[in-house]
Amino acid sequence: MVQARNINLRFRDGVVEDAERVADLGRLTFTENFGSVFKRSDLDLYMDRYFSLEKVKKDLEDTECDYRLAEGGITLVGYAKVSPVTLPIQDDGKTRLQLHRLYVRGTRQGVGVGGILLSWAIERAKERGADELCLGVSADNLRAINVYESRGFVAFGKQTIHVGDATDEEVMMTLPLQAEAKSKLSA
Ligand SMILES: CC(C)(COP(=O)(O)OP(=O)(O)OC[C@H]1O[C@@H](n2cnc3c(N)ncnc32)[C@H](O)[C@@H]1OP(=O)(O)O)[C@@H](O)C(=O)NCCC(=O)NCCS
Repeated sequence: MVQARNINLRFRDGVVEDAERVADLGRLTFTENFGSVFKRSDLDLYMDRYFSLEKVKKDLEDTECDYRLAEGGITLVGYAKVSPVTLPIQDDGKTRLQLHRLYVRGTRQGVGVGGILLSWAIERAKERGADELCLGVSADNLRAINVYESRGFVAFGKQTIHVGDATDEEVMMTLPLQAEAKSKLSA
């Protein structure tokens, strides 16, 4: 049991039986964040694509996709997902993984849950041997960008993503992971 500033939480890996709760929290958090930015029909198209029960089940079954869940009692408080890169990055010989989701339920934000999940994502990517952990975050999401920068992620480009028929600009960020281990090996 981990104490995230005043709430008792349990952190564990996600399994396929968690699909419904993960999909529900994905939809809730996405709507909380972007509900005032995009039309309902655009939100629905995006969420049907990425947070349908089928899609989340498939991800949870995929051995390339790692999920970490934060639970407070029976409530899913947050989750993170690390899996292969879908960002448009030219092959430069480096191995990368991507943090695809880092979502904390609105009522539980700001008490350390996201930080713990982010630490897990970084450690997991290191364990999987990645040179870098990268991510895409909405350019307007200054809170998340600040969190990532405070952990050493740096912006390296922008991309436009589709949210239904609308578009959103994302900042692409990356965190070098293996520098210490590599410099020791070459010394
Ligand atoms: C972004 C998000 C995941 C952060 O989770 P959280 O539980 O609220 O964040 P925490 O309370 O754990 O704070 C995370 C860390 O960032 C730091 N931090 C928080 N706000 C910060 C700010 N404005 N500037 C710098 N650092 C900040 C905290 O001190 C903490 O650092 P620590 O882990 O070293 O203690 C959460 O707000 C969220 O789910 N937002 C909606 C979905 C989203 O935007 N996800 C990211 C999309 S890519």
